[in-house]
Amino acid sequence: MKSWFITGISRGLGLALARAVLADGDTVVGTVRGTAAPLTADAGRLRLLHADMADEAAAVSTVHEAFQAHGPIDVVVNNAGYGLLGTVETSTDEELRHLFEVDVFAPIRVVRTALPYLRTQGSGHIVNITSIAGRAPGPGIALYAAAKHALEGFSASLAQELAPLGIRVTAVAPGQFRTDFLDQRSVRMSRPADSAYDTSVGTSLVALDKINHHQLGDPARAARAIIEAVRSDKPPLHLLLGSDALRRAREKSAAQASEMEAWEALSKGTDCDDL
Ligand SMILES: NC(=O)c1ccc[n+]([C@@H]2O[C@H](COP(=O)([O-])OP(=O)(O)OC[C@H]3O[C@@H](n4cnc5c(N)ncnc54)[C@H](OP(=O)(O)O)[C@@H]3O)[C@@H](O)[C@H]2O)c1
Repeated sequence: MKSWFITGISRGLGLALARAVLADGDTVVGTVRGTAAPLTADAGRLRLLHADMADEAAAVSTVHEAFQAHGPIDVVVNNAGYGLLGTVETSTDEELRHLFEVDVFAPIRVVRTALPYLRTQGSGHIVNITSIAGRAPGPGIALYAAAKHALEGFSASLAQELAPLGIRVTAVAPGQFRTDFLDQRSVRMSRPADSAYDTSVGTSLVALDKINHHQLGDPARAARAIIEAVRSDKPPLHLLLGSDALRRAREKSAAQASEMEAWEALSKGTDCDDL
């Protein structure tokens, strides 16, 4: 039996994961910031903690409480997050700061606070929910893409830092999943831009609006995939979820490889001659 700490289990992917974990007989210590999550479990197998992840002190004390009152914890999942849509030109520092507080700083703070406990336990698995936007973004989501790229890069280096300590790291990059992610109650929107952006950002925003609640991905299946990856003897460092994520990541890798090749001579030409 495993014990999971999951941020943002009120709805969406976090709720689906908490449900699947509880259905397996495991234990969930989950965070919510408003109303309680619509979950039931045998007494003792579900604990709810309250924290707005934009609040540094609340995020940190929640992790302490999770380990001190409900530990040991085997799996730490940074799931809580939201998207910011619109043009970079019309975005504000306030929007940028809040986005990074929730989508980047909070997950890093959660990891930093959890690490002494995980090291004492001698084991653990950190799962950071990133996004395909953190690997192969389209237009209209530059700041969200920046946040999720940060979490992908953080995870990749962290995994190497923690491997000798027996602590695993997986960055999970979902494609488009049928949650509230694109709902007005979740996603935030920068001020509208002028018509110069109609064919790039404008087109992308119309497409995103159309797929709200019609996304390809099933959150319950995403939850099962995350559990399978965590249970694996050799868990992946990067896990894509959804055929759309797989396609976009493959296209991005191929474009990157071909660009690297096209510019190889210029790249190599900057080396010093004395080595
Ligand atoms: N669905 C997708 O297509 C998709 C794709 C790629 C990545 N993701 C990522 O998956 C994760 C979960 O998103 P979702 O699709 O499940 O969206 P969702 O249905 O909107 O759920 C978001 C969850 O995050 C919580 N949350 C948001 N801001 C928070 C804050 N400041 N403090 C505490 N909790 C906060 C929400 O809590 P409240 O109920 O209190 O708002 C909710 O539990 C996010 O990190 C998102 O970036 C989603």
